[in-house]
This record gives sequence, structure tokens and C-alpha cells, in this order.
Amino acid sequence: MTGRRPGGATRTVVVTGGASGIGAAIAEGFRAQGDSVVVLDRAPGPGVIAVDVADETSVRTAFAAVRERVGTVDVLINSAGLLTESRLEDMSLEVWNETLAVDLTGVFLCCREVVGPMRHQRWGRIITIASQLGIKGGVGLTHYTAAKAGAIGMSKALALEVSPDNVLVNCIAPGPIETPLVDGISEDWKAAKRAELPLGRFGVPAEVAPTALLLASDPGGNLFVGQTLGPNSGDVMP
Ligand SMILES: NC(=O)c1ccc[n+]([C@@H]2O[C@H](COP(=O)([O-])OP(=O)(O)OC[C@H]3O[C@@H](n4cnc5c(N)ncnc54)[C@H](O)[C@@H]3O)[C@@H](O)[C@H]2O)c1
Repeated sequence: MTGRRPGGATRTVVVTGGASGIGAAIAEGFRAQGDSVVVLDRAPGPGVIAVDVADETSVRTAFAAVRERVGTVDVLINSAGLLTESRLEDMSLEVWNETLAVDLTGVFLCCREVVGPMRHQRWGRIITIASQLGIKGGVGLTHYTAAKAGAIGMSKALALEVSPDNVLVNCIAPGPIETPLVDGISEDWKAAKRAELPLGRFGVPAEVAPTALLLASDPGGNLFVGQTLGPNSGDVMP
């Protein structure tokens, strides 16, 4: 039943951050299997609904537009995110707050928009793109690590709240992936990271997207609850 909700209806999939990188590859994967996909992003683009996931009013407005366009959301992919590099002793509160606002609070705000209707229809999938850094940490990334660890913890708690109504909440924690996101990271950091990876290379978005399709599939994803799957070049072995 891949690509279809039980009952045969085409699923509606919302991908935040779907204008670029991992989110764009996931959106393409769902489109390819016949789902109806809506992209929410801060970056403008054809068919994209504008949102700043860190802003409560913006999220409410964007999801109202989604409901008007496609009705109830069956699958939510939280992929919007940002990454900067700074050692803690040099980090401004502004940089810390911005990372937490986008990478953690943004997940909360978007989940809050969809869980009620998903519970009501007794079917839903929420998949958040966390990071392996949320499990193992990274130098110069205390803010990002805290946000991603928070997203993983939050997803477990939300999974407990809503799984009785057949709404399944999980995370994907990719390793380093070649996208515009890592442009903000120093070449030294990337070279050191590559050297530490068992596969010796970063991944590409097309190597992450199938994990999201699996978690959203029925029956393939039906038993994943509060899990964190790791397409990560061997960076973390939980
Ligand atoms: N690339 C990696 O190495 C890597 C590794 C692990 C996890 N991740 C996570 O994967 C997700 C996707 O990252 P990516 O690598 O595809 O990056 P990307 O920069 O290619 O895509 C991120 C998208 O999020 C959007 N975005 C950023 N802030 C936003 C906001 N406030 N509101 C709405 N949209 C916003 C951007 O416009 C962009 O389209 C992120 O959550 C990131 O933390 C990336």
C-alpha cells in the first residue's frame, strides 16, 4: 500500500524545508509515488507556501493555507532547519536562540498544527529530520546538537501521546549530507568529519529520502514508533 492511505485515497504530504536539499528529495520521492505534496519553506518557489517555522503566526497561516489547498495532512515531514558553527564560549544568545527557534520550536509548532486532525482520522505520520549530531554531538555545534537532541526527545514523547490513535511519530538522523546547509561549515570541519566516517564520504539527499518513504509507508512503516533511523555513513551506531 505504499503511497496510499488505507482506503485507497491519495495521501497529502507536507514537507517543511522542502525547497532544498533533503526536504526537496523527500518531496520528490512522495510525488513520484503519487502522493499530493505541499512544500512549506522560507525560500520562495513555484507552488511553495511561505512559512517561517519559528514564527507561531506564520505557521498557523501556512497550515490554514495547506488545509484550504489539500484538506487534512496525512504525513508531515519536518525538514526545515539551519546550521551555523560557533564554539560555545564565542556564541551569542541570538545565535543560540535562532537555532533553537528554527530547529526545535519549529518542529513543535508544525506538529501542533497536524496532530489533532490526524488523531481524528486515526491515521497520520510525522517524520522529523533530526541529525546524528543530536545523538553524538559535534565541536562548534552545541546549539544545533541541543536542538536536534530536543527534536528526538520531543518525538518520543509525542509518539507516546498519539500512537494510540494510529499517529506514528519518528525521526531520521542523517549523517553529513551534501546540501546547501553544510556550506556554512568550515572546510576543516568537513575534512575532519569525512576522515572519521566509516564510509569515508558524505551522503546525498537521494540516499536519505527512501527512509522517509519507508516510515510513511503502510504497512512498511506501521511498527515504527518513536524511533530514530540513521542513514549516517556509519557515524553513529546506537
Ligand atoms: N545536510 C546535512 O548534513 C544534514 C545532516 C543531518 C540533518 N540535517 C537536517 O536536515 C534538514 C534539511 O537540511 P538540508 O541539509 O536539506 O538543508 P538545506 O539548507 O538544503 O534545506 C533546508 C531548507 O529549510 C528552509 N528553512 C530554513 N529555515 C527555515 C525557516 N525558519 N522556516 C522555513 N523554512 C526554513 C531553507 O529555506 C531550506 O529550503 C535540516 O533540519 C537539517 O538540520 C542535515
